[in-house]
Amino acid sequence: MIKNICCIGAGYVGGPTMAVIAKQCPEIKVTVVDVNQQRINAWNDADLNNLPVYEPGLADIVQEARGRNLFFSTEVDQAIDQADMIFISVNTPTKTYGIGKGKAADLKYIELCARQIARVAKTDKIIVEKSTLPVRTASAIRDILDNTGNKVKFQILSNPEFLAEGTAISDLLNPDRVLIGGNPETEEGQAAINVLTEIYARWVPENRILTTNVWSSELSKLTANAFLAQRVSSINAMSEICEKTGADIDEVAQAIGLDSRIGSKFLKASVGFGGSCFQKDILNLVYIASSYGLDQVADYWEQVIIMNDYQKSRFANNIITTLYNTISGKKIAFLGWAFKKDTNDTRESAAIYVADYLLNEQAELAVYDPKVSEQQVLTDLNYLNTRSEQENVNLISFNSCPYENCKDAHAIAVLTEWDEFKTYDWQRIYDNMLKPAFVFDGRNILNEKELTKIGFKYQGIGK
Ligand code: UDX
Ligand code: UDX
Ligand code: ADP
Repeated sequence: MIKNICCIGAGYVGGPTMAVIAKQCPEIKVTVVDVNQQRINAWNDADLNNLPVYEPGLADIVQEARGRNLFFSTEVDQAIDQADMIFISVNTPTKTYGIGKGKAADLKYIELCARQIARVAKTDKIIVEKSTLPVRTASAIRDILDNTGNKVKFQILSNPEFLAEGTAISDLLNPDRVLIGGNPETEEGQAAINVLTEIYARWVPENRILTTNVWSSELSKLTANAFLAQRVSSINAMSEICEKTGADIDEVAQAIGLDSRIGSKFLKASVGFGGSCFQKDILNLVYIASSYGLDQVADYWEQVIIMNDYQKSRFANNIITTLYNTISGKKIAFLGWAFKKDTNDTRESAAIYVADYLLNEQAELAVYDPKVSEQQVLTDLNYLNTRSEQENVNLISFNSCPYENCKDAHAIAVLTEWDEFKTYDWQRIYDNMLKPAFVFDGRNILNEKELTKIGFKYQGIGK
């Protein structure tokens, strides 16, 4: 029986996942640790609006479980020492240096965790990989634990996370499946699988808890994300054909989605997918394929990213050409900066890249997002290093009121599909814009007929 769980990494995956485990298993003590003191302070903030991760339903669960059996701390060693089971949920960004730069996953944080666990652990522990990892990472973790540890026994499981941001809590409470990769050939291996299965079985029907070998589990996570991203790139590729031929991408998506072999989900044409996972996981897959000499496989998957980059630049170019080939000094209002609705996460958001193109043309951007701060927008753009931080500050303005944000703009670009954008008084927005007033709807969420009737020049994706 597990009494004490530790999770290393209090981010978008570790935080919500552990909150839900703590909610569902009140007698298990769950401690989420992180080296980032500021992040831990935010998780412990009395004001639940200040949690570092915004997810619908998360604050209620934190309120219920925090201080009862859910704890957030920077005392990593202590939490490792006390735990029977340790989830590793640290970030695995794409490498920005050395071999595999721009493609391979950077496993430095994972290795540091493994070494820390090896150093601290004095009793047997089950280690669970939660972060998305290249296939065979578990064997690297095992090597470190077996060769540097205090001769205690470790079982290593892979338990990839399939939650999507914005719906994390419902995905966790009601998952399509839970995947546990382990080593059932040994008695201890099977016991570890059973223990983790029992935890999920408190609220997930057993037929949705799948066990595989460790490598299948690791590869399934990369494969799931690659397939999902590929659907978005496929529908986006068709969106450009629609624009040239007079077909409508939403009609095409509906027509193909009714084929039960294709299915209706994940067929929404957009300005391009973002998020911390899709691009990183595909690059990782491409790197793995190349490293085995599987060049055709690598090229096949790389095309998904190439298409996505093209969709973002195509959206930006269309704004430039439509605004008479010059946007220098023109105010363009962005509605949305997060990579999708209902999250404050901006990692790899299409908005960042579209903004960068427009800023290169000396546009003046006015950004509004219900959950993203001014500081985050500037950090995202500064990270690209395209221009000086001061230039970014000079060219970008922010307004917490969407109406003010759109005032005197030549054009509005919708980058995120936040529901509130649909409810705005669009007549009021139109009245305060320069004419002709353009709307570039990168999410196809606004009512084209209504906007056109008001007088807007509306352009959606694939219309
Ligand atoms: C296809 C479409 O399915 C059908 O809707 C359209 O009207 C005509 O084209 P068809 O070519 O008759 O139908 O058969 P289908 O079942 O789609 O198989 C096509 C090929 O893909 C076959 O060679 C099949 O063996 C192969 N296939 C299919 C796989 O290799 N794996 C699969 O999972 C599915
Ligand atoms: C994804 C996977 O869905 C999840 O299972 C995995 O655990 C992590 O990666 P996430 O990145 O949080 O989750 O969000 P997701 O809903 O998959 O959206 C990713 C991106 O694709 C977003 O930018 C979204 O706007 C875009 N998208 C999604 C589309 O453009 N069209 C669609 O039809 C669906
Ligand atoms: P994800 O989306 O995978 O959850 P995040 O970047 O949101 O990624 O969260 C990962 C967290 O892991 C960060 O808060 C980071 O500070 C933390 N982290 C990374 N390495 C370590 C480590 N060795 N010990 C503790 N925390 C770590």
